[in-house]
Amino acid sequence: MRGAQRALCLLLVASASLAALYLHLWAPKGPPSVDLRRPPPELLPPPLPPPARAYPHVPFRLKEEVMELLPRNGCSCEAEAEAGLALPLHRRLFGPGPAGLDFASAFAPGERPRQLRLREREYRNYRNRVQTPADRLLIVPANSPLEYPAQGVEVRPLQTVLVPGLSLQAPARNRYQVNLTASLGTLAVAAEVEGVALQGEGQPHLSLAAAHLDHLNRQLQFVTYTNTQFHPDTADIVQFSTDGHSAAFAIRIRHPPTPRLYGPGSAGDSDEDSDSDSNSGGDRGYNISALVTVATKTFLRYDKLRGLIASIRRFYPSVTIVVADDSQRPEPLAGPHLEHYLMPFGKGWFAGRNLAVSQVTTKYVLWVDDDFIFTARTRLEKLVDVLERTSLDLVGGAVREITGYTTTYRQRLSVRGGGAGGDCLRTRPGFHHRLAGFPACVVTDGVVNFFLARTDKVRQVGFDPRLRRVAHLEFFIDGLGVLHVGSCEDVVVDHASKLALPWRRSEGERQYNRYRYPAARDDSVRLKQRLFFFKNRFKCMAGD
Ligand SMILES: *[C@@H]1O[C@H](CO)[C@@H](O)[C@H](O)[C@H]1NC(C)=O
Ligand SMILES: *[C@@H]1O[C@H](CO)[C@@H](O)[C@H](O)[C@H]1NC(C)=O
Repeated sequence: MRGAQRALCLLLVASASLAALYLHLWAPKGPPSVDLRRPPPELLPPPLPPPARAYPHVPFRLKEEVMELLPRNGCSCEAEAEAGLALPLHRRLFGPGPAGLDFASAFAPGERPRQLRLREREYRNYRNRVQTPADRLLIVPANSPLEYPAQGVEVRPLQTVLVPGLSLQAPARNRYQVNLTASLGTLAVAAEVEGVALQGEGQPHLSLAAAHLDHLNRQLQFVTYTNTQFHPDTADIVQFSTDGHSAAFAIRIRHPPTPRLYGPGSAGDSDEDSDSDSNSGGDRGYNISALVTVATKTFLRYDKLRGLIASIRRFYPSVTIVVADDSQRPEPLAGPHLEHYLMPFGKGWFAGRNLAVSQVTTKYVLWVDDDFIFTARTRLEKLVDVLERTSLDLVGGAVREITGYTTTYRQRLSVRGGGAGGDCLRTRPGFHHRLAGFPACVVTDGVVNFFLARTDKVRQVGFDPRLRRVAHLEFFIDGLGVLHVGSCEDVVVDHASKLALPWRRSEGERQYNRYRYPAARDDSVRLKQRLFFFKNRFKCMAGD
C-alpha cells in the first residue's frame, strides 16, 4: 500500500511540474498591451455640446416654468410645499430637525473643503471606470433630412431634459413640419420661437410647423422631454418624422447608479491629485490597513490558518482579517484586527466566502485560502496600485507551490450563444492582452484563489452558496460582464499544502480531504453540472 501511495505521489509531483511548465510557457508574450489607466478622452463625460447650428437672427422667449425643470449645475434640498409626505422617512433616518438637511454639517467646518475635494476625486475615478462609449452622445447628421441624437440622451425617472441635436435639413418649400412622438413621457418646448406653430405641447405627440426653416430649427433646439411613466431603468424610443421621412432615437430613463465611494487610503494623504504620474513606480504610500481587508474561509485546518495569520502579521500588523469558519468543533481564534465568524457546520466553501466578504468595510478585499503564507513577495501595495490606477475590478497574484513552481491560473472564458439548447462555455488558459504601465500584469477573465478586488463588485457578483465544496471558476463565470479582471505575476503568496505527503497527514487533514475532494461520482459534481445547466443556461463546457 505504501508503495502505491508513493508512486501516486511521484506521479502527482510530476504532473504538477508539467502543468507548471505549461503555465510558464503562457507567460506574457505576444498580444499587445492596452492602457486601462485613463479613459480615452472621448469617453470622458461630454459637456453638453453647443448646438451644431446657430440661428442668431431668430428671436425666442424662454419659458421659466419649463426651464425650471431642466437639470442644472446645482440642486437644493429646500423643503417643498407638499413635503409633508416625505417627512416621516426623513424623521426615521435623521430624527427631528429641519427638513432640508445638509450632509456636510456632519463634518467640522474646517474639514468640509477637504472632504469635498477627496470625494470629488474618488467620484471622478469612479465615473471614468463606469462610463462606456455606449453612454456617449452621438448626433446623426442629416443624411435623411432629419438630424437627431442617436444615443447618449439620458433623463432621471420623472424628470425633464433638453433633447439635443434635433433639426430638419430639407430643401426649400412653403411650409415645414416635423412631429415627435414619445411613449413613456411628454414633449414640450423650453422657449417659444416666433413664427412656429406648436401642437400638442405637454403631450406625448408634439407637432411643429413653420414657414421658415431657420425658425423651425431654432424651435427644435428648445424641445424638452419629461418622463411621466416611472421606471428606474428603461428607455423611451421617440419617433421623429417629417413628410416622407421618419427616424427613431432612444432617451435612456434611469437613475444613474448611486456611487459607493470610499475615503482615500494613501498615507501621504493624497489631498493633492494622485492622478498625476509624478511618482509612478514605487508603492505610492498606500495605507494597506485602511484600504484592504483580508478574507478567508477555514474548515478544520487551524494549524494552517494560524500560520497564515502569523505570516500576515509579519508584514501587515494592523490589516483586518475576516475568517469565516464552518468547522464542526470550532477552535477559538483571537487577536487584534481579527474577526472570526462561526457558521453552521459544513455550510461550505462559497457560503463562507459570501459571509466573509459581507463583513468587509474597506474599499478592497483580498481573498486568500487558509493554507497560504505571506512572504516578502506578497506585496499587496502592488495589487492596490493596479486597482487604484486602472479600470480593473479584480486582480489576481501568483501562488507558489511547495514544489517551487508558481501559478497564476489565468483563464479566458468565452460563451457562444446556442439557441434553445443553451449556450456553450469555453475556458482556455491565457490572457487577452498585457496591461500598459504594469509589465508584470495582463488582462484575463479568471484568476487564482489569491486576488484583490473592489469589495462592492465582488458583492455584486456574489458566491453561490449552493457550491459547497470544490469551486472557484464558477465565481468568474457568474462575473462575466461585471468583473474586469487582471493578473499580476509579481505578487506571490506561498501555498503551504496541497502536495503534502499523504502518509504524513493528520487526522484533521484526512477529514478535511474527505470533504474537500469528493469522489468524482459524488453528488457535488452533479450539482455543479446542474447549476451550469439551469442557473447559467449552459449546454456544455469545453476547456483547452
Ligand atoms: C404630424 O402630426 C399631425 C397631427 O398631429 C398630422 O396631421 C401630420 O400628418 C403629421 N405629419 C407627419 C410628417 O407625420
Ligand atoms: C492607516 O489606516 C489605519 C486604519 O484606518 C489608521 O489607523 C492608521 O493611522 C493609518 N496609518 C497611516 C500611516 O496613515
